[in-house]
Amino acid sequence: MNRRLSLLTPSGRLTLGNLLGALRPMRAAQADAECFYGISDLHALTTPRSPDDLRAAITEQSTLLLAAGLDASTLFRQSRVPAHAELAYLLECVATTGELGRMIQFKEKSRHQESVRTSLLTYPVLMAADILLYRPTHVPVGDDQRQHIELTRDLAQRFNATYGEVFTIPEITVPPAGARVMDLGDPTRKMSKSGPDAGSIALLDPPDVVRRKVARAVTDSDTGPAAVRTDRAAKPGVTNLVEILVACGGSVDGIATYGALKAAVTDAVVAELEPLQERYRALAADPARVADVYDRGAERCREVTAPVLAAARAALGL
Ligand code: ADP
Ligand code: NA
Repeated sequence: MNRRLSLLTPSGRLTLGNLLGALRPMRAAQADAECFYGISDLHALTTPRSPDDLRAAITEQSTLLLAAGLDASTLFRQSRVPAHAELAYLLECVATTGELGRMIQFKEKSRHQESVRTSLLTYPVLMAADILLYRPTHVPVGDDQRQHIELTRDLAQRFNATYGEVFTIPEITVPPAGARVMDLGDPTRKMSKSGPDAGSIALLDPPDVVRRKVARAVTDSDTGPAAVRTDRAAKPGVTNLVEILVACGGSVDGIATYGALKAAVTDAVVAELEPLQERYRALAADPARVADVYDRGAERCREVTAPVLAAARAALGL
């Protein structure tokens, strides 16, 4: 059985974009892959934030992954599987500061910061460790992470060539075209958990908040008889609303005005989120159960990753 690994960083509140673009395909993947799904809490430390905020985000996200039906997978917190940090250090010993400094995401994220954390520079090395520890044969990646996965392959190949065959080199595959949900206020950028709150629907937003955000979503001044249609270039806001509606099981049949479209989008999104929120509330009332799932997951990850870490240590002469 092939393995699938996905990590989600608790850097904000999970959004409808994360649900349709990540959690839904992650749930579907459980049918034919052995899935390891992690909360990358170490990655969250690359940018400053308060411990209370981080703790709350980790708890909320852990609970949401379970509520989203990922219970057939191994769920874990990255920081509770020390092999991730340890292998990252070992891989830093084959990585160069030059190649890390050339990463586009590092350049973009560090540009406007006066003081840049070292962990922001080494972030892709930890990501390489996250992947290589589980020996996946394929890694599906979107464009924004492609350079990091190429670095993962480079580091693994360099390590193997220098110290002996330890790592499986994963092939990069294109993920199945999933839904790409755009920001409601600026439909030219994707809805993001780190983006503006008004433009993104959080998975735990109550119905009235969903209604208000959708009501304020940017559309356009087209009032023609065929105004409600998809055209990503000319009508990005309307296209986004139509796509959200369809992804949430609705249809634009018979919808002629933006007001009617927004009402239908609100109903479809609320209906999509309702069962998730109900399961979330039940799980949130029983935090020990959630903690137990993640503790058992970490235990399994420690078992699965131990041989890879041991082989890397031995190859290096440790
Ligand atoms: P965010 O931008 O919300 O911080 P990440 O970049 O951490 O999210 O991505 C986590 C996962 O969610 C990835 O699989 C990513 O492809 C998916 N994802 C994030 N935002 C969207 C979106 N707006 N539409 C579809 N999928 C998304
Ligand atoms: Na992001």
